[in-house]
Amino acid sequence: AVPLRPPIRRLLSCPGSASADVSGVDQAPGAANTGPPPRSFSEVQRERWEQAQRTVLIRCPGRFREKPLLRFLAQHGPVSRHFFYQSVGLYAVVEFCQKESVASLQNAARTPDLSTESVIPFRSRFFTLRLKNSPSQTSEWPGVQCQDQSPPSSRKLMQLLCSAESVDQQLHALLRAFQLTEENCRLRHLTCSLIGDVAAAFFPDSVIRPFGSSTNGFGKLGCDLDMFLDLDEIRKPSASKTPGNYLLEYQVKNVPSDRVVTQKILSVIGECLDHFGPGCVGVQKILNARCPLVRFSHQASGFQCDLTTDNRVALKSSELLYLYGALDSRVRALAFSVRHWAHTHSLTSSIPGAWITNFSLTMLVIFFLQRRSPPILPTLDELKALADAEDDCVIKGHNCTFVSDLSRISPTENTETLELLLKEFFEYFGNFAFHKNSINIRQGKEQNKPESCPLHIQNPFETSLNISKNVSQVQLQKFVDLARESAWLLNQEDKSHLFPPRNQAWGLAALLLPSLPSGVSLSKRKKNRLANGTVKSLLDSIRGNGSAERATDDSG
Ligand code: CTP
Ligand code: MG
Repeated sequence: AVPLRPPIRRLLSCPGSASADVSGVDQAPGAANTGPPPRSFSEVQRERWEQAQRTVLIRCPGRFREKPLLRFLAQHGPVSRHFFYQSVGLYAVVEFCQKESVASLQNAARTPDLSTESVIPFRSRFFTLRLKNSPSQTSEWPGVQCQDQSPPSSRKLMQLLCSAESVDQQLHALLRAFQLTEENCRLRHLTCSLIGDVAAAFFPDSVIRPFGSSTNGFGKLGCDLDMFLDLDEIRKPSASKTPGNYLLEYQVKNVPSDRVVTQKILSVIGECLDHFGPGCVGVQKILNARCPLVRFSHQASGFQCDLTTDNRVALKSSELLYLYGALDSRVRALAFSVRHWAHTHSLTSSIPGAWITNFSLTMLVIFFLQRRSPPILPTLDELKALADAEDDCVIKGHNCTFVSDLSRISPTENTETLELLLKEFFEYFGNFAFHKNSINIRQGKEQNKPESCPLHIQNPFETSLNISKNVSQVQLQKFVDLARESAWLLNQEDKSHLFPPRNQAWGLAALLLPSLPSGVSLSKRKKNRLANGTVKSLLDSIRGNGSAERATDDSG
């Protein structure tokens, strides 16, 4: 049997040496002080966009052979990478070395001729593969290996956490299991690029760019896909100067405001996706929201998509989060655990409402890490001071300038363990004066709240906005109570770490067990959590088969 917790946990592990596996995420090694500096956000995004342009999505039949399929595709040019995944059906993502191969493949494809229904012809990069001769029943068809696109079950997670050797390892194991994989990242960029093909029917020079958690390093498997229609190429002034005394301008339609422009564009793209977008279902136009959007589900990839336009500030905040996450391996590890903890205790929800959001939680983590002594993360003002002329960026009057070259930021001197940081995070926010103070990552210090709302987290760029305006007092109090309880649990563990009971979830795993209603004393809560029958049987079963699946098992 695998012990649930080693007798003496390694309490000090060097944060720089922590092996945060960030393969597949658009970001550099999390290890702060080793390896080459991470690439800039725009470099990564440009490369991903270019890859996606050379990629196609193919719905495959249930039974087929992989090698002949690849030979068939290679007739159109060399394939640089491919993988399969299961969604509603089996799909192949195929990346060619050259973009021309996609056109060649499109020339070889035909529009289906359905006997009972009619079809709207559309030459996309999303195909269906059919076999001319159906396979004989007797022949052997080896299945293809599919890449998992969903996060591990809670049972599997518990198993991973309980077989880790330290709390630090637990946090890194959770990160590895939940972060976006290389394949999932590619699928997200491909999906944006496929939607871009539909938008290009109206706006040929537009680009659909992903943002939010798909790009900022904080996305977990299964998170939504935020994308925006970038029309800047069309808007930007022509590079060539017209000779003589003449200036040519396009004839355009005028509308009263930028908001109306956004609404009109999204309305038409929404119609397009609904009528012609292959695989786009459940299209909803939510045009009266503060930030108008089109929501739909991309069935083939399984992503819930939110499409906006005119949203450059959000792209900048994705870049900022990417940068913070890439600066030190502890940042993403801590944020993933805090977000998972919040999800487990229903502090967050996929339904919009009074709940705290993942984006707000990430801001709390960043703020907390700015407040450590010495600080683990620089303030946004410090990042602005490091910017050069190329980083200058003002969007609609908001100064969004900060350094993009990560090698210009000095690494932190702080060597605190994740175990300590996790406990201190809960203690810090369990005692934070939310009633009077606002969280401000630009200055890295509390400010007086400018308005009376339960939780105030200043939007780093649109500084008059509160990113957690939606959070109710009840939800904030729930967060505070759970933070206090978790800090208490971790403190108790500290006292007993030399002789841990062998049948209890420990460290991060203990924090993910169901909580009890408020009003029950903390010590009673702890006893009750550990006596929980379901948990006990889960732990027993882990002890039984744990040796087969150690923490090194990378399910991410
Ligand atoms: N955003 C913002 N202000 C808000 C909400 C969102 O600026 N009040 C921006 C952030 O850049 C955020 C992005 O919009 O990253 C997408 O929002 P959302 O999908 O809510 O958050 P994600 O960071 O993508 O997290 P999740 O995985 O929960 O989707
Ligand atoms: Mg999102």
